[in-house]
Amino acid sequence: MTLKLIVSKDLPTDLDQIRLPKHVAIIMDGNGRWAKLRGLPRMMGHQRGVDTLKDLLRCCRDWRIPALTAYAFSTENWGRPLEEVKFLMTLFERVLRRELREMMEENVRISFVGNLEVLPPSLQLEINRSMNDTQDNTGIQFTVATNYGGRQEIIQACQTIAIQVQKGLLTPEEINESLFERYLYTSGITHPDLLIRTSGEMRISNFLLWQLAYAEIYVTQTLWPDFNREEFYKALLAYQQRERRFGKV
Ligand code: IPE
Ligand code: IPE
Ligand code: MG
Repeated sequence: MTLKLIVSKDLPTDLDQIRLPKHVAIIMDGNGRWAKLRGLPRMMGHQRGVDTLKDLLRCCRDWRIPALTAYAFSTENWGRPLEEVKFLMTLFERVLRRELREMMEENVRISFVGNLEVLPPSLQLEINRSMNDTQDNTGIQFTVATNYGGRQEIIQACQTIAIQVQKGLLTPEEINESLFERYLYTSGITHPDLLIRTSGEMRISNFLLWQLAYAEIYVTQTLWPDFNREEFYKALLAYQQRERRFGKV
């Protein structure tokens, strides 16, 4: 397999189109370390990370992977220095405004998961605009987890369900897995088959706790800004070598 082939639009020949994941989730980690290694401020790492995500999204489209979910900001990331948090919020807003036209042209359907109501109003505006404008697109389903926490997501689902029960609209016996899923932010999106985490950490950091129950996990040492098509190819190859048993023998 030559590099030329790998970075091209065509699926590398040693990947099996039929057995590609239908949904890839990604923890984009290592922006800060990438910048530090180069003597740059952490913000530069975040900025470069945007280009990486854009290319991964295109790669998923080229290789016909129907859904991609990216972890952009966790409920715990508010604990970072104010300057960094502000930079990230402004970056998200700027990128959304800048990329909307291209997302329309490329038929991307973008949606956001997380507690969006507490985000800066100007960012919420861009989020709503991009979701509304792209909702009828039929291409890749691109989900961005912003102010997302798996525990928070489960709690808010429980609260909403409890209110339904209190109102007499639902009985406790009716609560099962498929009903519960309808109250998650990810309602209607298939569970990820593959979780990729960059920069070496072996944890899920409160990402999609419910949805990742049976995802295959792939961790690479590569820092997020350096994650390219070749790295993605390696992750997919590893995925196709796994045996998914789902508790069976
Ligand atoms: C991930 O990169 C991006 C966000 C969490 C927003 P980090 O900023 O966590 O980078 P490291 O882990 O410090 O290198
Ligand atoms: C996870 O990365 C969150 C995002 C990528 C948005 P973190 O850098 O925040 O995770 P920890 O702190 O290493 O667990
Ligand atoms: Mg990190």
